Amino acid sequence: MRCKSLIIWLAAAALAGCSGKGSSGSSSIGGEKPLVVFSQANSQDPWRQVFDAEIKQAAAEAGAEIQFEMVEAHGDAETQISQVESFLVKKPKVLLISPHSESLTPVCEKAFDQGIPIVLLDRGIDSQKYTTRIAGDNVQIGRDAAKYIAQKLGGKGTVVVIQGVQAATATTERENGAMEVWKKDFPGIKTVGDQHCDYQRVKAHDWMVSFLQTNPQFDAVYAHNDEMAIGAAMAMQEKGIKGKIVVGVDACQLEVMNKIKSGELTATFLYPHPARKGIEVALQILKGETQFPKLITLPTQLIDATNVDQFIADHPNLSK
Ligand code: FRU
Repeated sequence: MRCKSLIIWLAAAALAGCSGKGSSGSSSIGGEKPLVVFSQANSQDPWRQVFDAEIKQAAAEAGAEIQFEMVEAHGDAETQISQVESFLVKKPKVLLISPHSESLTPVCEKAFDQGIPIVLLDRGIDSQKYTTRIAGDNVQIGRDAAKYIAQKLGGKGTVVVIQGVQAATATTERENGAMEVWKKDFPGIKTVGDQHCDYQRVKAHDWMVSFLQTNPQFDAVYAHNDEMAIGAAMAMQEKGIKGKIVVGVDACQLEVMNKIKSGELTATFLYPHPARKGIEVALQILKGETQFPKLITLPTQLIDATNVDQFIADHPNLSK
């Protein structure tokens, strides 16, 4: 091939490569779009089903800029750890993770040490080796729930506490926030139970059934999420127990709002979903942003009989 035509041929080949018409037909230079992965603790809890739908939607809207992959661990820490290990083999540009519990700390630190930006969504880890965490303020939710219950009881009474997954930061934060307020500001409030029911309705229902068999004297229930509040309320209903204050957290289901309207539940606190903000932060990281606050706090609010109708009107997408 003569020199001149060789140069023309090489230039054309190079241009073809630059325009992304490589063998893989990829749409960007060097083949693939940057890979963003999401490790979800479980996709069975109602709050997480809304979470999943939102993150899939947000990732699809960013589909031109990122390749997105997600996996869920059925609420098992060991499963989630091995799923994150498998993700690391793919060398993702960003790891989004909602950790089942603090057992996910070592594998998150390993990813961070490999230079992979870590964005914690909802629950945290027992380390500073992550880029940022996006979550509602669970300690404040615990404080607000405790104050609400204490005021409803006139500062005196016994509260049955039903806790979430042990060693999940949301659990310790919601527990500590509430206990701090009751100990400091409301010495007339006593707590009993303190059982971990893993944020699950059935576990809370079954535990409450056995607890009620001891004919305990109590005035309120503080459950770390709405699923467990509903489970406890069902157990009380089965036993004909009425008039107790029942408070949960999440406010993502229409069923919960209807139970507040019927009086089965007394109140809940919004625990916002970090999905959209998570994808937004991932895109900022891909654009070269490196400076993020350690915690990006999403707003919470109380919902009870005084504002439940307005909340329903303002949130047409509550899960059915
Ligand atoms: C869902 C869930 C929510 C709760 C959150 C706390 O798995 O239990 O109900 O608000 O996790 O991390």
